[in-house]
Amino acid sequence: MIEDPVLLNDWHPVASLEQLATTSVLRVRLLGEDLVVWRDPQTDHIQVWQDLCIHRGAKLSRGKIINGCLQCPYHGWTYNSDGACVRIPAHPEQTPPTKARVKTYAAKVRYGLVWACLGTPANDIPPFPEWDTPGFVGAVCGPFPHIKANGPRLIENYLDAAHFPFVHEGMLGDPNKPELGDFEARITPNGVESDPILVYQPDPFGGLSGKVTYTYHAFRPLTAHFTKHMPMRSDGLSPQNGMILTITPHDELDSTGWFIVATNTRKDAHGLGVEYLPRIAAIFEEDRAIVEEQRPELLPLDLQAELHLKSDRVAIAYRTWLRQLGLSFGVA
Ligand code: FES
Ligand SMILES: [Fe+2]
Repeated sequence: MIEDPVLLNDWHPVASLEQLATTSVLRVRLLGEDLVVWRDPQTDHIQVWQDLCIHRGAKLSRGKIINGCLQCPYHGWTYNSDGACVRIPAHPEQTPPTKARVKTYAAKVRYGLVWACLGTPANDIPPFPEWDTPGFVGAVCGPFPHIKANGPRLIENYLDAAHFPFVHEGMLGDPNKPELGDFEARITPNGVESDPILVYQPDPFGGLSGKVTYTYHAFRPLTAHFTKHMPMRSDGLSPQNGMILTITPHDELDSTGWFIVATNTRKDAHGLGVEYLPRIAAIFEEDRAIVEEQRPELLPLDLQAELHLKSDRVAIAYRTWLRQLGLSFGVA
């Protein structure tokens, strides 16, 4: 397991409800730990356990769900939803020893994702203001697996509006209009937040071209959010999108990204994720090409290590905050 107390005691996405609707048993790696994530089709209860049978170390994620229990694929030891072994098929008359248990982890469902914590949760699952706002509908876009970068570089990229005209020319920016409006960023009890940052956007999703604002938050080291306000439409609606990027840290330089969107430009969420996915995927692949090649791979928290300008104020606040938190994974 990766020994970073900040991340061990934090919530991380491990699966989407959509994935668990089609496959009831999944294997997921989180912070160097192999997990089995499973959903009981009868109750919809979701469990996140260490992917290890206590008997001979077989992978439970190869097992089967039987009557609300998970059965090991090797000798059929059967674990109930509390992680206790309730049946040893070779000795049906014997009560399984109390030590015959799997290691279970805290799990919660929010925003269409299953979140797990390997330690003792120090915070709640990150907030998502638009998700709970009346008039907004939301959906998960992802996963984006096999990213050869650590979370802090990916999150810093997400918090950076100055790259839009160059990395996302034509969609999120125009190299002939690269200026950012003036803004401040600060550290608050809830993480990092910025003022609304004014940028020119040729093709904002759900809105018209023109000046839009991004207001950024880093709610957790590996979960960032922005609110985007777009110019008013002819029907009088001021389109607003909220979006989260949250990263699953599997191992060093192996991450999965999940985007969660919420918008007031739609009446219902039906098909929202499918509609957003091609655009988010196109934008993300442009970011991935840059971020996977950034060196050093570990985000330098020493502000002397790279050059910083006014336009980097969100990144400066993010690096300073990570240092205050004492994060060690993915940073130097
Ligand atoms: S290894 Fe799981 S039952 Fe034997
Ligand atoms: Fe980007």
